[in-house]
Amino acid sequence: MEFDIRDAALAEKGKLRIEWAARSMPVLRSIGERFAREKPLVGVRLAACLHVTTETAALVQTLKAGGAEVRVCASNPLSTQDDVAASLVVHDAVPVFAVKGEDKDTYYRHIHAALAHRPQITMDDGADLVSTIHAERKELLADIIGGTEETTTGVIRLKSMAAKGVLKYPIVAVNDADTKHLFDNRYGTGQSTVDGIIRATNRLIAGSSFVVSGYGWCGRGVAMRAAGMGAKVIITEVDPLRALEAVMDGYQVMSMAEAAKVGDFFCTLTGDIHVLRKEHFQKMKDGAIVCNSGHFNVEIDLDALVRMAVGRRPIRDFVEEFQLSDGRRIYVLGEGRLVNLAAAEGHPSSVMDMSFANQSLCSEFIVKNHRSLGRQVYRVPVDIDKEIARLKLAAMGVRIDRLTAEQKKYLSSWEMGT
Ligand code: ADE
Repeated sequence: MEFDIRDAALAEKGKLRIEWAARSMPVLRSIGERFAREKPLVGVRLAACLHVTTETAALVQTLKAGGAEVRVCASNPLSTQDDVAASLVVHDAVPVFAVKGEDKDTYYRHIHAALAHRPQITMDDGADLVSTIHAERKELLADIIGGTEETTTGVIRLKSMAAKGVLKYPIVAVNDADTKHLFDNRYGTGQSTVDGIIRATNRLIAGSSFVVSGYGWCGRGVAMRAAGMGAKVIITEVDPLRALEAVMDGYQVMSMAEAAKVGDFFCTLTGDIHVLRKEHFQKMKDGAIVCNSGHFNVEIDLDALVRMAVGRRPIRDFVEEFQLSDGRRIYVLGEGRLVNLAAAEGHPSSVMDMSFANQSLCSEFIVKNHRSLGRQVYRVPVDIDKEIARLKLAAMGVRIDRLTAEQKKYLSSWEMGT
């Protein structure tokens, strides 16, 4: 079996950590049990380009239980958990191509390796499989019946491909399911980003000025958690509606030009390029800590910082110091890559439970329905989304009310007023 991982000897540690994560993934577990009985993915070749974490391992085991032949590569050069990659290879016989800290060439070589079995389904986190196939491996399109996309950035790229008429197969936007973005993006990113910042720096959040750039679901999560730890949270936004929401949620909102002068921590979660750039580094306080939790490492203009710096050195794991000519020092976490996966372990398993339940059920949906799907980006079917919410509540032991017959009738009528 082909694979490329750091060290197979890490497999035992990985196996135990996967078992620990899977304990908090009851929805995925119940899907896995059904998949093992019904084999809805039997013989389906699936390439998964995901962050190689304990939670992803639980997803891969679920897909395998359903009968899929899965090959895995990393969706970010710095997010791989090497012990998990080892365990998937050694204990689950899954071809994995992922090494934490791999360079750009290796990253793309791994993407090609994950495509070597001519996948029928692609599972992306950031759309790198889809874009590689469309740009360089068009011969694979003949076998592909559909794909799924995990993250906001990937959905944006894929919708742009669909709008330009270049997307060649259907994609289900897992990110857009309510049971995904309302939980994973908000509570998952909220906790794991603050976790990454703390693990990397061991700095006190309380009393700090914490600048969150972008008030989408991820930014909201981080703002909420930083505020919960006692930070004075400042939001920067380009969208007036979101900025207004941030104001009314009780945060200070200002331009980055102003925020740059006062922030102790800066965290970008916008999905856009060069949100922090030279003009901002010029104004930052000595000791400012800068990181990104958006999908790609484009949000911080690191090249500009490198050009401005008179010196640089790694000072702790995942913390690099840049010395400027006026004596100020700026600290960049995790090379400007997503800090929650570079310096911590990504979102906790109990939110990934819902995200990966969506991935599993959407793979099944594609197998069953691909003949009637076009070259578009589709929403997750509402019944899948609702079923996942129902299963999650049941697993948490939470019961909710049902509509009475009278209430159902009322909701479908228009006659009755005050
Ligand atoms: N994205 C964010 N957190 C993750 C995790 N724990 N596993 C896989 N993908 C993730």
